[in-house]
Amino acid sequence: MEYWSNGVVGSEIRSQHAITPTPQFPEEENVKVDLDHRLKYLAVATLAATCMLPISPASAQSQKARVGLMLPYTGTYAQLGTAITNGFKLAVAERGGKLGGRELEYFTVDDEAEPAKAPENTNKLVQRDKVDVLVGTVHSGVQMGMVKIAKENNTLLIIPNAGLDAATGALCSPNIFRTSFSNWQPSYPMGKVLADRGIKNVVSLAWKYGAGEEAVAGFTEGFIKAGGKSVRGLWIPFPNVEFQALLTEIASIKPDAVFVFFAGGGAAKFIKDYNAAGLRKTIPLFGSGFLTDGVLDATEEPAQGLETTLHYADGLNSKRDREFRTAYSKAYTYAPDVYAVQGYDTALLLSAGLDAVKGDISKRKELIAAMEKAKIDSPRGAWTMSKAHNPIQDIYLRKVVGRENKFVNIAHKALADPARGCKL
Ligand code: PHB
Repeated sequence: MEYWSNGVVGSEIRSQHAITPTPQFPEEENVKVDLDHRLKYLAVATLAATCMLPISPASAQSQKARVGLMLPYTGTYAQLGTAITNGFKLAVAERGGKLGGRELEYFTVDDEAEPAKAPENTNKLVQRDKVDVLVGTVHSGVQMGMVKIAKENNTLLIIPNAGLDAATGALCSPNIFRTSFSNWQPSYPMGKVLADRGIKNVVSLAWKYGAGEEAVAGFTEGFIKAGGKSVRGLWIPFPNVEFQALLTEIASIKPDAVFVFFAGGGAAKFIKDYNAAGLRKTIPLFGSGFLTDGVLDATEEPAQGLETTLHYADGLNSKRDREFRTAYSKAYTYAPDVYAVQGYDTALLLSAGLDAVKGDISKRKELIAAMEKAKIDSPRGAWTMSKAHNPIQDIYLRKVVGRENKFVNIAHKALADPARGCKL
């Protein structure tokens, strides 16, 4: 598997990333926060020195919990990183700016979805900023680097997107949790959806890196198991969007259907190119829901009618989801997508842990136990953690109508990733 690719240097964002305006609550400023933190530290240190007393756990807890956000804020996955950050901060704001009674201090690094820079970027947060918890990331190749460092340092890591199967599979660990999905998870049910429609021969097309390979593997497993005949794989390097030659090849193969994994800016371009090549009329297009989530403002007509499977949908019509969508749209002036939900749920999971230890993040055992048994009251529908620390969740079939991925039905109820190789 190709998790690693050459890349340019990831850039670090020391001041708060310029996310859309949040009229509901003030944005934190690292500069100010750092200053506050230093002043508080000075005061505590002076007092301790004066009294010749050790700093008590209570005063340690009066300090802010240090949260390292490592996400892509530039490149093809930039929007995804921003939506995750927005969702996380919305949940924190709804709790008065505190989780488990602790205020948060954010340290932010733009990982640019560049696997080659993952170790250096992760170490900025772990070694230099000494964060209490790492939140990241989006790209499975970058995630591989983060997982390795989090394991080596026993840093608490919550994955708010990247599906890297091994993170909650062969590399699973007590200190690593995921609030999103495994790459296998949303693609596997699409296999049965297509097989049940009598589709026999499929061409898959995806970016050639961990996420694309694992999504296609999950789809293929579900498809063959449900009676499909063949899946022929076509690949394009990440994050290339020059699809023309591949579209010509698909036209000449003439499969019954096409299944793809693309996301973010690349997904928007693919939808338009597939349509412009005239293939929509002759060869139906399907994918995991990343194809159409967060891109519908940019795609409009060419996306209409596309069917995908994912753990979130528009029009779920639950009270929880309606409240979340109203709050998110008010705070950020546009509608949430799956990435916003995942960021939101990341803060809910951390909140469950910190509540249980009243903000004392050093009580690692109790914190992890609380996170393991948390039932997350998510906008996507309530979900629980598998033994391997991955959500057990419903996967929805959705269809693009206007600018929404409309709920069609539940493609697979309470689906757990097989967690192959996990020994937790
Ligand atoms: C991944 O690399 O795991 C990944 C990236 C973007 C998505 C989904 C998965 O939308």
